[in-house]
Amino acid sequence: MTSAEEFIPAVRLDNEDVWETLAPRLRDLVVHGRFILGPELEEFEREAAKVFGCEWAVGTSSGTSALLLALRAAPLEPGARVALPTNTFYATFEAVVMAGYEPVLVDHDADYLLDPATVADLDLQAVVAVHLYGLPVDMTALMSLARDRGWWVLEDCSQSHGATVAGRPAGSLGDAGAFSAYPTKNLGAWGDAGFVTGSDPELFEEIRSLRHHTQRQANVHLGLGGTERLDNLQALVLSEKLRRLPEEVERRRMIGAWYRDALDGMELVLPGDRGDRTHVYHQFVVRVPDRYGVRERMGELGVGTGIHYPTPIHLQPGASDRFEAPAHFARAEASMHEILSLPMFVTLTQGEVDRVASTLRRAIGKG
Ligand SMILES: Cc1ncc(COP(=O)(O)O)c(C=O)c1O
Repeated sequence: MTSAEEFIPAVRLDNEDVWETLAPRLRDLVVHGRFILGPELEEFEREAAKVFGCEWAVGTSSGTSALLLALRAAPLEPGARVALPTNTFYATFEAVVMAGYEPVLVDHDADYLLDPATVADLDLQAVVAVHLYGLPVDMTALMSLARDRGWWVLEDCSQSHGATVAGRPAGSLGDAGAFSAYPTKNLGAWGDAGFVTGSDPELFEEIRSLRHHTQRQANVHLGLGGTERLDNLQALVLSEKLRRLPEEVERRRMIGAWYRDALDGMELVLPGDRGDRTHVYHQFVVRVPDRYGVRERMGELGVGTGIHYPTPIHLQPGASDRFEAPAHFARAEASMHEILSLPMFVTLTQGEVDRVASTLRRAIGKG
C-alpha cells in the first residue's frame, strides 16, 4: 500500500444515496407513527414476493427468525430428521434444533454446497439447502429427489438474493425460502431483518401468526410464537434496496468477472456460475494454504479479508451431541483451514480488484 492508497476493507457499506431517497419517507413514517405492521411492511412484502417469484413474502425480525418460523410452520412432526450442510452459519443449525427437529449434518461439494447425491440415500423428512456465498445448490436435482422421497425443502437464501436456477429466483425453488437482510447481505437493512418467501397459503398464515404471538385475530392467541415481526422502518429501507437489487446483482457479477481475470494463472479454484445456476457473489472465496499467514500479510499490505466460516457446525461446542453425522466431513475439515473471503461489495472498483489480486499474489509469494 502506498501512502496515497486507502485500505480496502473486506466489506464497505455506503448508504448515502439511499439516505437521500429515503429521508422524506422516513420522516413521513415517524410522523404517522405506525412502526409495527404498517403500510411500509405490506409494500415490502408485496414487492419481495414479485422479485423472488413467489405468491407471498412475510417480513421477520432476522434471518434466524425467518428460518425458525418457516421450520416451525412446516408440515413436519417433532423429531423430524432434517439434513443441512455442516459449513453454514450457525443460525441454520440453531433454527433446526430450536424448531424441535433432529439435524443431520452433511459435508459440502466442490462449491461449498450441499450435494443432492450425498443425501439421496438418507432417511429424512426435510432438507435445508443453503445457497452459500451466493451460488445456489443444484435445486433441480434436489427437488426431483425431494418430490420422490416426500421431503420438505427450505432454501436458506441469506447469501443469495437475486441468484437463479434455470432463470427462477432462489427462494422460489423449494417449499419456502428464508432470507436474512442483515446489513452486510446483498439485500441489507439498517439493522436486523429477514423474511420468508413461498407460495403455500397455509404456510403463509402460520408464519404470519407465529411472528405475532400466534394471533390470527387480535387478542386470540393460538399457541406460542413471539415478537418476530419485521418493523416498518426496516421494511421501508428494504423496499428501496429491493429496487436497486437487480443493478447491484449485475455489479457484483461484474466484480466477480474482474476477480476471475485478475486472478487468472494463479492456480486457484475460482467461484462462478455452474451450468444454469447463477452466482451473485455475496462472498468471493478462494483457498490458500497458510491462510492465517496470508491474511495477516494482506492486512499489512492494505487489504482486509474475511473467513466464512472458520469452524463448521459439527466442531462447534454448542452443537456437540445435538446432531447426527452419517459420514465424515473430509471436505469441510480441509476447507475450514484454507478458505479466505476477498473484499466484495458493490462500490469496489476495478482498480481495487486489481490491487487485491496483486496483494494476494505477494502474500502467497507468487508476485
Ligand atoms: C447462511 C445464513 N443463514 C442464516 C443467517 C442468519 O441471519 P441473521 O443474522 O439475519 O439472523 C445468516 C446471516 O447471518 C447466514 O449467512
